[in-house]
Amino acid sequence: MTSASAPSFNPGKGPGSAVGIALLGFGTVGTEVMRLMTEYGDELAHRIGGPLEVRGIAASDISKPREGVAPELLTEDAFALIEREDVDIVVEVIGGIEYPREVVLAALKAGKSVVTANKALVAAHSAELADAAEAANVDLYFEAAVAGAIPVVGPLRRSLAGDQIQSVMGIVNGTTNFILDAMDSTGADYADSLAEATRLGYAEADPTADVEGHDAASKAAILASIAFHTRVTADDVYCEGISNISAADIEAAQQAGHTIKLLAICEKFTNKEGKSAISARVHPTLLPVSHPLASVNKSFNAIFVEAEAAGRLMFYGNGAGGAPTASAVLGDVVGAARNKVHGGRAPGESTYANLPIADFGETTTRYHLDMDVEDRVGVLAELASLFSEQGISLRTIRQEERDDDARLIVVTHSALESDLSRTVELLKAKPVVKAINSVIRLERD
Ligand code: HSE
Repeated sequence: MTSASAPSFNPGKGPGSAVGIALLGFGTVGTEVMRLMTEYGDELAHRIGGPLEVRGIAASDISKPREGVAPELLTEDAFALIEREDVDIVVEVIGGIEYPREVVLAALKAGKSVVTANKALVAAHSAELADAAEAANVDLYFEAAVAGAIPVVGPLRRSLAGDQIQSVMGIVNGTTNFILDAMDSTGADYADSLAEATRLGYAEADPTADVEGHDAASKAAILASIAFHTRVTADDVYCEGISNISAADIEAAQQAGHTIKLLAICEKFTNKEGKSAISARVHPTLLPVSHPLASVNKSFNAIFVEAEAAGRLMFYGNGAGGAPTASAVLGDVVGAARNKVHGGRAPGESTYANLPIADFGETTTRYHLDMDVEDRVGVLAELASLFSEQGISLRTIRQEERDDDARLIVVTHSALESDLSRTVELLKAKPVVKAINSVIRLERD
């Protein structure tokens, strides 16, 4: 119900009762959400069964002129806006963690469904948010929190709800994919490729969250939680970024028919005790060029899912940007609004499996090791025995002659991460090993 004095904007004129929206955040994504709701209001009203009415927009600086938005819709008081009786759905596109957490929790407690694009918030506080949504019998949607426009939360929660998901592996950060692709296609080093990403607006002024893998780790936590029906937070995700990847690593990868991608890898596996466990990790990964994820270039994202009955699936598209992210947000708004108009709820959190989350050391990986070693009789035999003493089987060994030493590139078969990392420590202690240039994990196709 709209009170006579309260401001409201009705972008659509379809049939049925109105659904009140509070938009929190009016940056790149919020502006696009408003544009799409305005431009396609009539169609959305038909799809929902009632028009969307924007009751207000909370922004940090309402003195800034906002084209096409009635000034009376703008407010700096998000808490007052969400409490309005005529607000049914709260759309959070602010970013950050603590402030959005407070507002979103307040909205859920006030009985409003919430649509958020905030991966850091969902990855850190999913349990608290899901519990609040459950207690209030409202919806919590967050499709836009993982890989922008790409529908993956919905497909995992709904379309694949009858299947057994074995792994979810994805390129879920566009900034790092742009940097690695630039290094791969031009031979440029990391610093120059990051500078280019910054110049073109892909990388933020402080790129830490992207290049150190934290953004991808949040998305991995969300994907693993949904895929494996277990609560996984960003703190459970092993995380390594791309800032140590060198032009020489890229060149070595290319020579072996591989490319390097920053992957979020979520897997279900059988642990040493013979029980099901899950792992979630983010690290640079060598992929054979024949792998479907290897051809995901520029700032695109893709998520590769393996499920028992469905087999292999891949979801590809724009992982960031105002309009692509707004598309996912608005899809959720339509879902939540349909539920308001027709009744029903979106699938809530599912944690029944409650599987143990393995330490990174318990997972199985393969290593690509690039070393400088002494070039003399017996060195290869000495190093090969070290691998074999540690129970690590070697897949390929490549040696290049240099002036006073040799470059040795070793690819292992799969082994426990803890055994592989211990072997690297033992290699470092060997006098014949002059330097370990890089250790990059490898996936097969
Ligand atoms: N910064 C992210 C990326 C987009 O580069 O993909 C938002 O998660």
